Amino acid sequence: MNEYEKIKLDYDSLEDIIDDKTLDLHYNVHYKKYTEKLNSLLQDENFNYGYNPIFLAKNIDILPIQNRDEILYNLGGYLNHSLYFYNLTDKKKDAPNDLIELINKNFSSFELFREEFINMASDLKGSGYTFLVMDKNDKLRIVNMTNQDTPYYYGFIPIMTIDVWEHSYYLKYFYDRKKYLSNVFNIIDFEKVYGLYLANKSAISK
Ligand SMILES: [Fe+2]
Repeated sequence: MNEYEKIKLDYDSLEDIIDDKTLDLHYNVHYKKYTEKLNSLLQDENFNYGYNPIFLAKNIDILPIQNRDEILYNLGGYLNHSLYFYNLTDKKKDAPNDLIELINKNFSSFELFREEFINMASDLKGSGYTFLVMDKNDKLRIVNMTNQDTPYYYGFIPIMTIDVWEHSYYLKYFYDRKKYLSNVFNIIDFEKVYGLYLANKSAISK
């Protein structure tokens, strides 16, 4: 079974960025719903639980044809939300120097990376997510995905995301998605982002 555990973030300390109500509904209703639906779909298909969700997302051809669309939707919903909540921190930390160096190499500067990420997320049409991903050559790119599509389906490895579905921000920010993005960018745990980069770096460039 795919895991849904109680959130480890201190709600109060994020109040200035994400209000308690939004965080609570987002985590305990939306994220939970995707997790439970995914589990029930896989169970209905009598699918082998030995495969973990990331493996499934990288190998979608092994998913049963029946209900595949719905499985992909909920698998994406599970993985995208898992990364979003994993990325958030309630303790302010600086980005590791090694990551800054990497970002500079890929986007010229950390500030330009921030700007490009926020602009891409502001421009996303409808519901979806903006991701920092690694491509097959470990190059970093910023990509948008709509609805619950996940970069794994397109051969990318996501290492950071911001959810831009309206349920992520509307209660506090209303239409001001850009303000939500600028604020939430400041509570991304870049130590974790770098950890994911290292864990997924290809054997060739290690
Ligand atoms: Fe969400």
